[in-house]
Amino acid sequence: MLAKIEQLLQEIEGLNAKNTEELESLRIKYLSKKGIINALMADFRNVPAEQKKEVGMKLNELKNRTQARFSELKEAFETQESNAVELDLTRTAYPIELGTRHPLSIIRNEIIDIFHRMGFTIADGPEIEDDWHVFSSMNFPEDHPARDMQDTFFIESHPDIILRTHTSSVQSRVMETSQPPIRVICPGRVYRNEAISYRAHCFFHQVEGLYVDKNVSFTDLKQVLLQFAKEMFGSQTKIRLRPSYFPFTEPSAEMDISCDICGGTGCAFCKYTGWVEILGCGMVDPAVLDANGIDSKVYSGYAFGMGVERITNLKYKVKDLRMFSENDIRFLKEFEAAN
Ligand code: DAH
Repeated sequence: MLAKIEQLLQEIEGLNAKNTEELESLRIKYLSKKGIINALMADFRNVPAEQKKEVGMKLNELKNRTQARFSELKEAFETQESNAVELDLTRTAYPIELGTRHPLSIIRNEIIDIFHRMGFTIADGPEIEDDWHVFSSMNFPEDHPARDMQDTFFIESHPDIILRTHTSSVQSRVMETSQPPIRVICPGRVYRNEAISYRAHCFFHQVEGLYVDKNVSFTDLKQVLLQFAKEMFGSQTKIRLRPSYFPFTEPSAEMDISCDICGGTGCAFCKYTGWVEILGCGMVDPAVLDANGIDSKVYSGYAFGMGVERITNLKYKVKDLRMFSENDIRFLKEFEAAN
């Protein structure tokens, strides 16, 4: 038995493995329950009593040495692996999770794309505005309820400076710096002093449209909006224009589209009317053209404004407006497929 142990000790010193799999099978061969060393241990009871001390010591030495050798080899493999990782310069420092585009951005981009194809360019304006661009230049009478502090955020020390309540202010900004032909859309965030609930928020998003040129008519407006509705909601979509009132347009209308849930036959979503409202529009009031430096005797124009949240809700049936601004990853992930 001593000779056998000596031979194994030598074998262990020279032990090597090409990879971790081979190392594991060697470990099983030597150190597992049914391995060589355990078999020797079992044989130990047959060793004559006078040799027990010597053989026992050798056997322990063999066991310890074998365990130590396996640890050495294992460690060697591990450092090899981590060295390999260090050298992989293309590997990212941490797992990067790709984000998803926000549903409002998806829809805003779709709206922009549709109007872009019809020749509209994008115009921009400040969110912190003055009363002139938001209200006065847009033909709001001095005592119009929309100027009421209930709706408008303003700075107490500077009541003239407000957060814009609609993107119509960008119409004014564009007209005061350019002459027709003007064909722009103005996407942006707007603010209103509303109590936050599932159906109202103190900020939301709009896309404004403005077209000013010679001989622009209501027919032009209707055709552009019909085209928009078909591209946005499908070619079977119908539109309906209802007379309405806005200070900056005359005549004014609100546009409904045929309900895309019931196809116009009536359901809870469209309150059994078959129609859902999506935007406001009209012919730019001549007073607005004149106030912004455009000769209303030469030019006419149309304008429209829609809520991005409203369109997004129609497309994706989001029941609670607050979801849009809560940054809940689970909600945002639902729109992965639409990205
Ligand atoms: N500014 C209106 C709003 O915030 C929307 C709107 C209606 C814009 C009619 C327009 C328009 O340009 O012609 O409710």
